[in-house]
Amino acid sequence: MARHFLTGEELTTGELQGLIERAIELKEDRLRSRALEGLSVALVFDKPSTRTRVSFETGVFELGGRALVLREGELQLSRGESPRDTALVLSRMVHAIAIRTGPHETVEELADYSDIPVINMLTRDHHPCQALADLVTLRERFGRLEGLKLAYVGDGNNVARSLLIASRLAGVELAIATPPELGLPELASIPLDEAVRGAHAIYTDVWVSMGDEEDAEGKRELLAPYRLDEDLLSKARDDAIALHCLPAHPGEEISEGVLYGERSAVWDQAENRLHAQKALLELLISSLPER
Ligand code: CP
Ligand code: NVA
Repeated sequence: MARHFLTGEELTTGELQGLIERAIELKEDRLRSRALEGLSVALVFDKPSTRTRVSFETGVFELGGRALVLREGELQLSRGESPRDTALVLSRMVHAIAIRTGPHETVEELADYSDIPVINMLTRDHHPCQALADLVTLRERFGRLEGLKLAYVGDGNNVARSLLIASRLAGVELAIATPPELGLPELASIPLDEAVRGAHAIYTDVWVSMGDEEDAEGKRELLAPYRLDEDLLSKARDDAIALHCLPAHPGEEISEGVLYGERSAVWDQAENRLHAQKALLELLISSLPER
């Protein structure tokens, strides 16, 4: 049966560790693997993307495969064809489907009816590919994951949830500080100062996610005390790094000084999307019976 990657919970701790080490190997020699030789991957985007789009398309190419980028409106999915029928048809033609869309249920339905791996490139609830790259970045910077403390500050959103799942698997302690109204239902928020004390990294994301534009002003007001700035970073360990999945709004959820400063690991984090997803594609494609 094809393996999917919808939330990150599909991986064992050992697989996650292997995948991170593999990503670091692939980073050292980008063309060493031809795992997708002769294979095609459909990349479906119902929402905008810079990093995810470019890293997946480049990653598929570097692995010897072909990426078909399908934007909103280009598939009959946008005219009401079901995820089920889309999965049944694409399974006969390509070798993996990656999708960025709003409802998580769409990705689940695709996976339920797909004979080929389905990868979640972001839904309203999860962003697991981002969390993989985040762990690769922490592993690179600190030489290990087990025992690290990661503080996430800001909106309790898809990125926070995926970090929670990935951190638990990897043995990273995750402390989340959000306004009470914007917390993750599955993890109690802790006070900001407590979350960042002793942290190896402080992570933030946008205050207004794609599709959340309606409540934008109210959210900004609630989130103002949670800005990742120099003062907040100084409360973490002396060697703490700043993380952000991007796109950033300098001056809003992160100060310009932190984003572009010496302790920012944000640009490595963006690059690591490429290496982490190549390792993921290798793993998932190996679950296909015949290729
Ligand atoms: N971090 C991230 O997913 O960026 P994009 O929206 O540009 O893909
Ligand atoms: N939480 C953000 C992440 C963007 C990469 C969003 O969903 O828009």
